[in-house]
Amino acid sequence: MLLDGADEVGTQAGAGRVLLRFLDTASEARTLGETRVPSGTTIFDAASWNAIAIDSTCGGHGTCKKCKVRVVDGAIGVSDLDPRAFSPDELADGWRLACRADAHDDLIVEVPPLQTRPKAALVGVGRHVILRPAVQKRHVVLDEPSLEDQVSDLERVFAAMDDLELHASLAVVRELGGVLRRSHYDVTAVVVDDELIAVEPGDTTASCRALAFDLGTTTVVATLLDLTTGQPLSVRSRLNRQHTYGADVIARISATMIDGDALEDLRRQAHSTLAELTKEVCAEAGVDPTEIYEIVVAGNVTMIQLALGIDPEPLGMAPFIVASRAPVPALASDFGVDVHPRAPAVTFPALGAYVGPDIIAGLLATGLTRDRRTRLFIDVGTNCEIVLGSASEAVATAAPAGPAFEGATIRCGMRAADGAIEGVRITDSDVEIQVIGDSEPTGICGSGLVDVVAELLRIGLLESSGRLLGEDEAAELAPGLVSRFRRVPNGKGGEERVFVLAWRGDDPAESVYLSQVDVRRLQEAKAAIATGWKMLVRRLGIEETEIQQVLLGGSFGAYLTPASAVRIGLVPPLAVTRIVAAGNVAGEGAKIAALSLPERHAATALLDEIEYVEASGNADYNDLFLEELTFPA
Ligand code: FES
Repeated sequence: MLLDGADEVGTQAGAGRVLLRFLDTASEARTLGETRVPSGTTIFDAASWNAIAIDSTCGGHGTCKKCKVRVVDGAIGVSDLDPRAFSPDELADGWRLACRADAHDDLIVEVPPLQTRPKAALVGVGRHVILRPAVQKRHVVLDEPSLEDQVSDLERVFAAMDDLELHASLAVVRELGGVLRRSHYDVTAVVVDDELIAVEPGDTTASCRALAFDLGTTTVVATLLDLTTGQPLSVRSRLNRQHTYGADVIARISATMIDGDALEDLRRQAHSTLAELTKEVCAEAGVDPTEIYEIVVAGNVTMIQLALGIDPEPLGMAPFIVASRAPVPALASDFGVDVHPRAPAVTFPALGAYVGPDIIAGLLATGLTRDRRTRLFIDVGTNCEIVLGSASEAVATAAPAGPAFEGATIRCGMRAADGAIEGVRITDSDVEIQVIGDSEPTGICGSGLVDVVAELLRIGLLESSGRLLGEDEAAELAPGLVSRFRRVPNGKGGEERVFVLAWRGDDPAESVYLSQVDVRRLQEAKAAIATGWKMLVRRLGIEETEIQQVLLGGSFGAYLTPASAVRIGLVPPLAVTRIVAAGNVAGEGAKIAALSLPERHAATALLDEIEYVEASGNADYNDLFLEELTFPA
C-alpha cells in the first residue's frame, strides 16, 4: 500500500479493487477525492464516476488527447496512444492520457486545471454527474470544395472533428450532399458515441435532447432531458398499457405461453405507452421529437424483452435464462418511439432474470458500489431486488415478495393513488389516518398496510405470530378501539376477523379494514424480503448492526414510515434517520446514463462487481423464511 494517510477505505482492499486519489495541481495538491474502483478501470472513468472533471472533448474515446494527468505514485503502464501525446521525458515523469490509463495498482493522480469547466447535474440519490453525454453536437463551417480541393463530403465533415474517430451509415451519406450544399457548408454534426447520425443545416447546437424512460411493470415514466444543461424539460407518467394482461411479470410471461398472439400484442402495448409519453413530454416542452437523438430505457428483464419482441418464456421457468446479459443494440424505433430516425436506444445490462437492468440503473442512481459505507438497497415490488454492500464488495438477490406491498391481494388494497390510506396512527381510543390526495378513504396501499400492522403490534392488539386479537381480548387491552374489531364474510361461506380503519356507514364489510388474511399476506411478503437481506448479510460475513443506511426504492419507499418498517422487521433495526426513500431509482439511473457515457461504462462494470446470490439455491433459505414469518417481539 503506497498511500500514506489513506483512511480506512485504504485498509479494506477488496479483491480486484484499487484505490485512486486525485490531487488538484491548481491548489497546492489539494485532494479532489479518492475512490475505490475495480482493477482495470481507466483513470478517466474512475474520475468521472466520482464527479472529478478531467478535460475531454471526445468523451473518453482516446481521440482528443486532452485528458492529460500525471501519475505521481503507483505503477501505471504506457498505452499505445501515450507516446503520441507526450515526450519521453513527460512519460517518465508519469504523464498519461487518463482515458487510456488502466488502473491496476493504487494510484495518486494529479489533475491539471481544466481548460473548459464541464457542466454537472445533481441526479439520483445526491449523485453529482458530470455532463458527458454520448450525444454531442458540433457546429462547423466548412470550406466549399473546388477543383483544387476535392475532398469528399464525408471526409470534409470528419476532418472538421479530427479529435473524434467517426463513422457514418449509408442513410447519413445519402442526405449529406444535399444538406451541405443547401446550407452553404454551415452545418451542425450530430454525433452519438462515435457515430455521425445526422448533419443539420446551420447552428442547432442549442437543441440537444434525449429521453429517459423507466419502463415499469405498472407505471412508465418519461423524462425529456436537455443535454446542454442536464436539466429535465418535462416529466410524464402513465400506466403501462400491458396491465390488462396482469399486474406482474409472471402473468405477462404466462400470457405469451398460452396465447400465440400475446407477445406481439404485449410488444405493441409497450410501444404505444412509450409513444404516447413521448408525444406528451414533447408537447409540454414544445420540443420537436426529431431533436431527440437518443433514448435510454430502464426496466426489468421481462419488460425490456417484451418491448423488443423477444420471447420471455425462458424467464418464466427454471433455470430462468435471460436472452442477453449485455444490452442488445437497438434503435428508438425498436421501442416504438418516434424521435430522430437514427436515434439509438440504450438499455442496461442484467445480472440475472430477476436482478435485471432496472436494478443496475438503480445502483447507478444510488452510487451504492462507490461508497465506503455498507448500505442496503431494497427495491420493493412484486419481485423485490436487494443489494447489500459498499465500494469494497456488493452482493445482490431477488425476493419473490408478491404484490401485497402494491395493495394487490389485500382485501381493501389499492395502489398508492388518491383515496389510499398511506399512513396510520393508533391511540388508545382512536385511529388517525392519512389519505393520499386528502380525499375520502377508499382503500389501503402498501405503506398504510405496514403502518397499521406496526401500530397494532406496538399496542399489543396483534401478536408477533400475526394473530389479530378477538373482540373480547381487545376489549381488555384497548376498550376505546373494541368497536373496530369485527367479523366480515370471508367469501367462502365463513367469516374472518378485521380491524376497521375507516367506516363507510355501519357495515364493516363496506368499510376500509385490515383483515386477518391481509396480515398473513404481509407476513409472507415481509418474510421474503427479510430472508433476502439476511442471506446477503451472512454472505458478506457482517452483522446487521454494521449496515449504515437502508435505501428504499420505488413509490412504496417514498410513502413508507421508517419506524413501521423496523417494527415489522422489514428492514434492519437502524435509527429511522438512516432509512431513506431513494425514489424512482431506475428512472434516475436512466437519466444518468443519458447524461454521461462514463456512467454507462460503470453500469457495464457492475456486472463483474456484484455477486448474485440465488435465494432458492441457498440451503438456509427455508429455515430463515420460516423464522421471518413472525414479527419482532
Ligand atoms: S483522448 Fe479524449 S478523453 Fe482521452
